[in-house]
Amino acid sequence: MKVLGIETSCDETAAAIVELGDGGSLRLLSSIVASSMDLHAVYGGVVPEIAARSHIEHMMPVIEKALYEAFDGSDDPWENIDAIAVTQGPGLGGSLLVGVVAARTLAIRKNKPLYAVNHVMAHPFASFITSGIKGLSYPGKPPQFPLLSLIVSGGHTQLVLFRSPFDYSVLGRTRDDAIGEAFDKVAKILGLPYPGGPSVGEKAKEGDPSAYKFPKAKLEGNIFDFSFSGLKTAVLRTAQKEIGEDHHFPSTMLSKRLSEAQKANISASFQSGAIQTLVNKTVKAYEEFNPISVVVAGGVAASPELRRQLGETLPSPPIYPDIKLCTDNGAMIAALGCFMHGSEQEPADPYTLDIAPSLSM
Ligand code: KG4
Ligand code: ZN
Repeated sequence: MKVLGIETSCDETAAAIVELGDGGSLRLLSSIVASSMDLHAVYGGVVPEIAARSHIEHMMPVIEKALYEAFDGSDDPWENIDAIAVTQGPGLGGSLLVGVVAARTLAIRKNKPLYAVNHVMAHPFASFITSGIKGLSYPGKPPQFPLLSLIVSGGHTQLVLFRSPFDYSVLGRTRDDAIGEAFDKVAKILGLPYPGGPSVGEKAKEGDPSAYKFPKAKLEGNIFDFSFSGLKTAVLRTAQKEIGEDHHFPSTMLSKRLSEAQKANISASFQSGAIQTLVNKTVKAYEEFNPISVVVAGGVAASPELRRQLGETLPSPPIYPDIKLCTDNGAMIAALGCFMHGSEQEPADPYTLDIAPSLSM
């Protein structure tokens, strides 16, 4: 069974084809990602209008390339496709619309079942792909249930316990900023390029993680919930204080006055504290729920510091998708689509499927 996955929730226009083999293993036949990240970098964050326009330009060429690479030499590549899976949400409305309209049209024209996929839920399913196109590294074997997943991206931060693909509990989630968003905002304060995860991580290498003691959020209620907005504000206040200004000083002018050493120390202290919070809660959940596998997914799963800290503290090594399958891609959508098509999940109606920008798990 082969599923075409389509993803357009943010600034990546992506399509991929994943095959479900006889033994239940997933194989990646192609994965194409066209990013409009460079167009957003000058603004320090994604501009929804620019992202939507870029999706319109890239959507069909990306799908055609994914089909061509998976079925090179086939007269009609569509004959090989059993189903189409598309990101329904969460994400930017204008961006989601492009992918959903493309998927609906193709499902009708090519007469294929259509599956509406939750983008956040799909992230960990990239780890079920254990073989495929060259140049990526795959886990030796797929994760096993019960599975604990730390999903960390630009829009989401949550811990989810999956008992099976469609039977899960969200243990905790962020009450304000997502971890990737916190990285992106701190990068902006420090004048480091977008996206902030990699640029703060790179700058942190030159800094001292114990230079500043940033507060950790103390939350009432659910111990698995997260909060990162206080940490981001603490970074802002520290930067203002370091240059001898009060809290009225505009954040946009800070980076010119901070020295490279100050930027490096702030990056290192912020990164280490933010990641400690993720790691502590993941370890607590591991101890409480005793999963067989732990999967770390989403753009921030690419962070070397997160991998280092988790490797040192988790009793069993977590499974990560290849870096290219950590950030947004079509393969994770196709992977979850394979599970949906192979189970009792209802296909969507291609004539009525709507986007769901605030969809949650
Ligand atoms: O999953 P993703 O591509 O998009 C969303 O669904 O949000 O995640 C994007 C986020 C950005 O905030 C970016 O700063 C972060 O992932 N990110 C990283 C790294 N690469 C991307 N964060 C930390 N370290 C990285 N190497
Ligand atoms: Zn994502």
